[in-house]
Amino acid sequence: MKPPRKLHIKSYGCQMNVYDAQRMVDTLAPEGFVETDSAEDADLVILNTCHIREKASEKVYSELGRLRVAKDEAARNGREMRIAVAGCVAQAEGEEIVRRAPTVDVVVGPQSYHHLPQLLARAKSEGRALETEFPVDDKFGFLPQPKPDAIRARGISAFVTVQEGCDKFCTFCVVPYTRGAEVSRPVAKIVDDVKRLAENGVREITLIGQNVNAYHGEGPDGRTWPLGKLLHRLAEIEGIVRLRYSTSHPRDVEETLIAAHRDLAALMPFVHLPVQSGSDRILAAMNRKHTADDYRRVIDRFRTARQDIAFSSDFIVGFPGETEGEFAATLALVMQIGYAGAYSFKYSPRPGTPAADMQETVSAAEMDDRLVRLQELIDTQQSAFNKAMIGETVDVLFERAARNPGQIVGRTAYLQPAHVFASPDIIGQVLPVSIASLERYSLLGELAGGAARPAPSILPQLTGA
Ligand code: 5AD
Ligand code: SF4
Repeated sequence: MKPPRKLHIKSYGCQMNVYDAQRMVDTLAPEGFVETDSAEDADLVILNTCHIREKASEKVYSELGRLRVAKDEAARNGREMRIAVAGCVAQAEGEEIVRRAPTVDVVVGPQSYHHLPQLLARAKSEGRALETEFPVDDKFGFLPQPKPDAIRARGISAFVTVQEGCDKFCTFCVVPYTRGAEVSRPVAKIVDDVKRLAENGVREITLIGQNVNAYHGEGPDGRTWPLGKLLHRLAEIEGIVRLRYSTSHPRDVEETLIAAHRDLAALMPFVHLPVQSGSDRILAAMNRKHTADDYRRVIDRFRTARQDIAFSSDFIVGFPGETEGEFAATLALVMQIGYAGAYSFKYSPRPGTPAADMQETVSAAEMDDRLVRLQELIDTQQSAFNKAMIGETVDVLFERAARNPGQIVGRTAYLQPAHVFASPDIIGQVLPVSIASLERYSLLGELAGGAARPAPSILPQLTGA
């Protein structure tokens, strides 16, 4: 066993990065690395970066400035601190990072995390190591499994990557360049991962992928399985009581996915379905390959299959050429759909994307104004959605002791945090809670009926795909 060393990973951006950070911890554990909360006393700091919008990638350089100070301070105390940059900025701007921030020891793209130990060794002997290739072999096959104690420490809700990369090439988006072409993992591997997680106390699985419903993995029958069929299989795994998936694309909503929402009680009725804009002209310029009406029809199909389903979305305001009328079409779409929540962003040109060559027409002031108007509308919808829970009895999956002594916190089907006063024994169980009040985004209630329901593994509605 190697001597213990401290590792600090700071992740930005999407859930894929959160998951990747855990895989990096698992990869470095055999090297003696244990996680620490503070960057200052770490022997290795990894910035797991996001390149999706300009603001996200700018953060890397300011964080590197702070880390350089910490590294110098450590050196003065006779301690060596290493700094690595991982994630999508590493992938897209590896060479530039090396040039702009000489303090960085390792630059590693998302496809190469299984090489981290070798890259650290190379940095030690050569002073610097950079790897941002897209290797031909599937990185998933090389990443180590988390150890049971690591799974348990991470709690009862876990992410599992089922698909990575994107072939959609929306004109504003860097993902197809930073994460590469779509790759789906085989069903058997995902089933193994989920079983292992369930055996170690995980009750909720969120399947993640940049374009998760484009999933087309090899099934045990040798055929290609769509996401809906995979969900049916995972719902059979003992101990798994909740399934989610993110992020999906309106163009890839197959009938099997709709059927999964109809048939599987374990599949949560909360879908993140980004639309970006309500204007057909802007959607075409974004290369989304769907219209606003196509999106409305997809929403209707979900709603017909499962009445209590709710949606969240992503929106971009101020895409090149967006007129006030086109922005109004976005507001109209939001009014019509009614969201439980949504993220909205100001358009930010990303180097190397087709939209970066388009003439920007929306002034900074107009962009700010549109963002505020859209966010106000979304906030109103979100508050109304949350308030509607008051007086209802809803199922909550309890996750951990809350900061408030005596309280246990969990989440509703719609990911709203819900607090009750109860014994920690309820952690890991789904229990009905009667909701009494709402404090900001958090629900407060009491266990309804008292008796703990055993967590169902195979739900009665399951019909098989
Ligand atoms: N500018 C602004 N927002 C963007 N997003 C992706 N690329 C950009 C960009 N260049 C947003 C989209 C996407 C979310 C993850 O980030 O709304 O769905
Ligand atoms: Fe980016 Fe579009 Fe792919 Fe989503 S679907 S990751 S927005 S290119």
